[in-house]
Amino acid sequence: MTPAPVSRDAAAPIVRELSALRAQLAGWKRAGQTVGVVPTMGALHDGHLSLVRAAKADCDRVIVTIFVNPKQFNSPEDLANYPRTEVEDARKLGPLAVDAVYVPGGDQIYPDGFCTTVSVAGMTDVLCGAHRPGHFDGVATVVTKLFTQTQADRAYFGQKDYQQLQVVTRLARDLDLGVTVVGCPTIREEDGLAMSSRNLLLSDRARVWAPELHRAMEEMAEGLLAGGDAGVLRRAAEARLLRTGFTDIEYFDLRACADLALMSRADRPARLLAAAWLAGVRLIDNIAVG
Ligand code: PAF
Repeated sequence: MTPAPVSRDAAAPIVRELSALRAQLAGWKRAGQTVGVVPTMGALHDGHLSLVRAAKADCDRVIVTIFVNPKQFNSPEDLANYPRTEVEDARKLGPLAVDAVYVPGGDQIYPDGFCTTVSVAGMTDVLCGAHRPGHFDGVATVVTKLFTQTQADRAYFGQKDYQQLQVVTRLARDLDLGVTVVGCPTIREEDGLAMSSRNLLLSDRARVWAPELHRAMEEMAEGLLAGGDAGVLRRAAEARLLRTGFTDIEYFDLRACADLALMSRADRPARLLAAAWLAGVRLIDNIAVG
């Protein structure tokens, strides 16, 4: 009998138990296949899908993980409001033919009595780390678990969370986890807004204003390349954002790519990084300067 054709609309296969994931991994590892992982918290958008495509291009097997990690949220409201769209996520992943979507319950990641924290010193004290105490400990802890649970050879992260990418790269090296961390370009909407699961929380009005963050960053980058001072340009950018409707600019910094040190002029490889609140939603973005 001819097998039924696989529907392009079929949802990707979901695995919820670590034991089931391990059983699959054992077969793949026995066959000498490479495993790529794309860690996510769901509410998948084209940015995530671009990470999956990069993983598919490099690896024999690809696992997407979906876990809304309570340890990286600073407030119970933020955790409760985080968008959860599992059925839609599995449907979006179907056409990409990933090998497994690992959606662990909390007990699979943090079993009873769990009391280990992975903490990356130094680079987590600034930017998002300064405004979200404990956030990067939560990220580092869950990412370490996801790397070891999936036994991944390669892991794919977006450059949109630039500081997170640095933290994860550092911990993989420091702990000899045997996984290569791959940073992939930020994917943007047509109006420049960086794709983010949190964009789903923006009201229609706020969605119209949101791309101003990226525009202000582009303008500041131009000013820096023309030899401008970061402090002066930052004040102009912040004023522009406040006029648009942003309420709180947490940071709008020029920082060295190598170690995230604060810079006043773009005289070595640098990134402009920003976090700002718009109508109750925290947006972050970053761009290369020069
Ligand atoms: O970037 C995210 O979605 C999360 O911080 C991550 C890496 C999946 C860890 O929970």
